[in-house]
Amino acid sequence: VLCDIGFVGAGVMGKNLILNLADHGYRVAAFDLDHKKLEAVIAQDKAERGDKPARVISCSSYTELLSRLSSPHLVILSVPAGKAVDDVCLKLIDAGIQADDIIVDTGNSLWTDTVRREKHYEGKFIFFSTAVSGGEVGARFGPSLMPSGDPYAWTRIEPIWRAIAAKVDPATGRPLERHEPGNPVTEGEACATYIGPGGSGHYVKMVHNGIEYADMQLICEVYQVMRDALGMSAEQVSAVFKEWNQGILNSYLMEISAEVLATKDSETGLPLVDVILDKAGQKGTGLWTAVSSLELGCPAPTISEAVFARSISTLKDQRVLASTLLAGPVREHCTSQSAELMIKQLHDALYCAKICVYAQGFDLMKTAAAEHGWQLNFAEIAKIWRAGCIIRAVFLQSITDAYERNDDLQNLLLDPFFAKQISVNQMNWRRAVAEAAMTGIPVSALSSALSYYDSYRTAVLPANLLQGQRDYFGAHTFERTDKAKGKTFHVDWSHNDRPMQKIK
Ligand code: 6PG
Repeated sequence: VLCDIGFVGAGVMGKNLILNLADHGYRVAAFDLDHKKLEAVIAQDKAERGDKPARVISCSSYTELLSRLSSPHLVILSVPAGKAVDDVCLKLIDAGIQADDIIVDTGNSLWTDTVRREKHYEGKFIFFSTAVSGGEVGARFGPSLMPSGDPYAWTRIEPIWRAIAAKVDPATGRPLERHEPGNPVTEGEACATYIGPGGSGHYVKMVHNGIEYADMQLICEVYQVMRDALGMSAEQVSAVFKEWNQGILNSYLMEISAEVLATKDSETGLPLVDVILDKAGQKGTGLWTAVSSLELGCPAPTISEAVFARSISTLKDQRVLASTLLAGPVREHCTSQSAELMIKQLHDALYCAKICVYAQGFDLMKTAAAEHGWQLNFAEIAKIWRAGCIIRAVFLQSITDAYERNDDLQNLLLDPFFAKQISVNQMNWRRAVAEAAMTGIPVSALSSALSYYDSYRTAVLPANLLQGQRDYFGAHTFERTDKAKGKTFHVDWSHNDRPMQKIK
């Protein structure tokens, strides 16, 4: 029997996607350069399916892989982003892939690579992309999928992606329980929607990851204030996070943070977090988001701060040295507030800052869409992030609602619901940031979000002075508030009694 899908790459994500596809009745022919990985998938498929016929077969070459598939061929790649994707595409060309065959890249590829590949492989096969979020468990039991590219290819892939994606209960907007192996969830709204032309899916996933970085950093900052200013134990912070996870701050990242903090190291008996080295890793997607925001001139400062926070964490030796050389605030400045009050302030700070992070991420997608001519549907994007992905949260339903109220919303902060949320919670946010500053605890993401909010709502910023400075030293000109838009002026600053010169 010919297989429905060819699959290249049986690493952690690949293996779980293969088993998820098999659960939904698809027959998969799999290939990996590392035969051991393939054996592991086959063994797991067998163990889970018992006496029922196997749904996954292993292939020993790209040629065999294609020969095992029904035509036109559909091949899904789960290989590391970058060169490996092109290497596999070239191997599949050599193996005889045809012009109407489809290759789907599911890695965390740079979106511009996806645009390039779509053009580059035109006529040889159809290069389609689908960004996947949800880590290994998501891949196994329901990820969030962000497909983009050729619309014909989408018609072929859509039923498959809808089947394996995470599902949301349409009545509550909350994730449905994940399925058991061999017993998939089939009802509910699937977290898979066509994003747009090639590259747009990976762009949207990139922004998802930028938001993920900021969301994680915000939680980490709140954690540090609780530990260092309030002297709470990891377990106590965990208990607070568990409680917060029942309310408006409910999210997967909050849930796993509580679990990480409650975990003890089996060797030392200490909280595991206390023996984890405080140097953060990164694979680049947060950085790409920050770079894109700078290139587009679309402010996403809290996302950039989250990337910088990871960078500064890696300067461990310098930080340890500096901790003995550089003074912080004197003790009297440390918190005098009750722990209970401060915990409430941190809760509200986290909530408000989180709204700003999403405002930045969605604004970035809107700006990129305008720049690249994509028609992004933001209500749909928020919908497919309600389950399956790393940033899943009840909060995403409110974002969906905001864009359903107004699909042309300029900034999430202008939505009446979110405007009200910040308005009623902002004082605690301000107090939390001020208290952290007075105590000498870095809260770069919490405070950057606050500055973003305050800048965005300030009608007159000191950019007037800045324009004056630019004109002074470089004759860069400025516009006037009392003259028509676009008309520029220059002053001879050394003789500013002379009449102003109109440039255009
Ligand atoms: C997801 C994650 C996933 C991966 C990140 C981790 O949505 O499933 O974002 O893509 O875990 O790439 O990124 P860093 O290693 O950069 O933290």
